[in-house]
Amino acid sequence: MYQVVLIFHIVNVVLMAAPYYNLVVVSERSKFGPAHVQVDRYFEQIVRGILFRCYFIQWSVLLLGLLLVGLHNNWSFQSLLTQWQLLIKEAAWVAIMVVHNLVYFGIQPRIEALLRGLQGESIPPEITSRVTTLRIRRKQGAAACFFFVLVAVIMGVQISRPLGPGTTVALTLLALLFAWRAYRSGVQYGWV
Ligand code: HEM
Repeated sequence: MYQVVLIFHIVNVVLMAAPYYNLVVVSERSKFGPAHVQVDRYFEQIVRGILFRCYFIQWSVLLLGLLLVGLHNNWSFQSLLTQWQLLIKEAAWVAIMVVHNLVYFGIQPRIEALLRGLQGESIPPEITSRVTTLRIRRKQGAAACFFFVLVAVIMGVQISRPLGPGTTVALTLLALLFAWRAYRSGVQYGWV
């Protein structure tokens, strides 16, 4: 049973790669340059759809994580407060939710409202600059989320087989570097 739940937990983690692909998609959008306003509306509809789906994935990963803790410890949940790897995973989950809510309820509706009010085919420069500012903030949110997901993965692997502090710090720094590269470059070759 434990391993079956673990498989579901890991499948959910695979589905949490959304911030990585969002960074790819938004970097491709910026390369595309100015376009018909409908292109941007369609693009925003896709982004909003992904953000909405993410809620289900995040709650599933949490519930499956709790189930794993319960199954492993004879339905005692004390390790949620005492095991540092789990504490960091819980903090990563909360951080993802906070960033996600800021983007979904704060940034995304403002971008869509700006695009919704437009007449004609092209976006006027003053609206473009406001949309771009909001998109940059959203991109920063995606990069932060991606980093938190990577941290949670690094901690997940260590729950049963802990690594030394040096390796953990090195892996976390690599995760930071990777999230930064994905933010800056859109990682054309997958990793760089
Ligand atoms: C925030 C998003 C999360 C990600 C990306 C994540 C990632 C992972 C990964 C990749 C594993 C597999 C480790 C392995 O193969 O040994 C794992 C295992 C596990 N996770 Fe998560 N996790 C997350 C959230 C949580 C939460 C919130 C909890 C607890 C409430 C949790 C509890 C566990 C447990 C108990 C295991 C099993 C470890 C083992 O059997 O060795 N996870 N997680």
